[in-house]
Amino acid sequence: MNFASDNVTGVAPEIMDALARANETVAMMPYGADEITARVETAFAELFQHEVAVFPVATGTAANALSMSVMCPPYGAIYCLEESHANADECGAPEFYTGGAKLVAVPEVEGKMTASALDARLAGRGPADGVHVVQPAAVTITQASEMGTVYSADDLAALGETARKWGLKLHVDGARFANAVAAGNQSPADLTWRAGVDIMSFGATKNGAMAAEAVVVFDPALAETLGFRRKRGAHLFSKMRFLSAQLEAYVKDDLWLRHARHANSLAARMATALDSAPGVELDYPVEANEIFASAPKAVWQKLQAAGFIFYTWGDAERPSARFVTAFDTDDQHVDAFAAALK
Ligand SMILES: Cc1ncc(COP(=O)(O)O)c(C=O)c1O
Repeated sequence: MNFASDNVTGVAPEIMDALARANETVAMMPYGADEITARVETAFAELFQHEVAVFPVATGTAANALSMSVMCPPYGAIYCLEESHANADECGAPEFYTGGAKLVAVPEVEGKMTASALDARLAGRGPADGVHVVQPAAVTITQASEMGTVYSADDLAALGETARKWGLKLHVDGARFANAVAAGNQSPADLTWRAGVDIMSFGATKNGAMAAEAVVVFDPALAETLGFRRKRGAHLFSKMRFLSAQLEAYVKDDLWLRHARHANSLAARMATALDSAPGVELDYPVEANEIFASAPKAVWQKLQAAGFIFYTWGDAERPSARFVTAFDTDDQHVDAFAAALK
């Protein structure tokens, strides 16, 4: 019963079938010149109700780092949260792909960046800083956030407005974008370009793909050099059709949203069970598929001894734990978790 992450999962059968079907055609043109990749671009344009350029890659880190490379020069600053994946978990890939840009932390509220915190971070900067400081270039936020909360379209529109005020590009790390869309009734368009998002990392691996993510570009100017950067960054797959086949199946017939609704609903059930257990406190509102809670260490130890797998960290006596549900999480494992907690 593994709640450690949503990448402990396997591959959705629909996506395995799509890979097998892609394999039936013996030869297809390489490097993205195939018909499946062309169909993905059309499917994503429909999904986002906007012209987009789509660059499939195999990891979220590549999607993030490539996105940042087109938003920010080597002497630029990218505003992010301290705990964002880009800042904390990518081994410097954004810095590497941008040729040395600086990631600058903005304080978080419930795992999210607010427009006012971003504004405050930028206020007071100006031409007088001259050549001595990195130049503000971009903002990156994560949707759903690393703490399992979700930015509303209004949150994003406020961030978009602040980004524009300071001349910054806005990027969304959408490793769990499906969970954010499934969490409310806001469309992919509302949560991206309509709110001023210029470019995003569109995740699929955590929600049913084998290994497929995409850089989705709403601002055509940002797409101009991305193809070169992807190749130079060694993420241009010669058999691109197999990444594209995953992405096509992922969005077909709303598979991605059905998966995310399942994960989110099980997270809500786990959160209710945790919230009603004595001594357990939820650390963040549970709005997507990740739950953070703190409790006396014995609570977590007993659950782990009972066979539940999850990460803990922080305070030695009262650690925090993270539980992640996914598209294939078994309802019965969640029932067993609730029973064990009792
Ligand atoms: C918020 C977020 N962004 C991006 C990623 C991409 O990770 P990877 O490079 O392992 O595919 C992850 C994976 O854990 C993530 O949680």
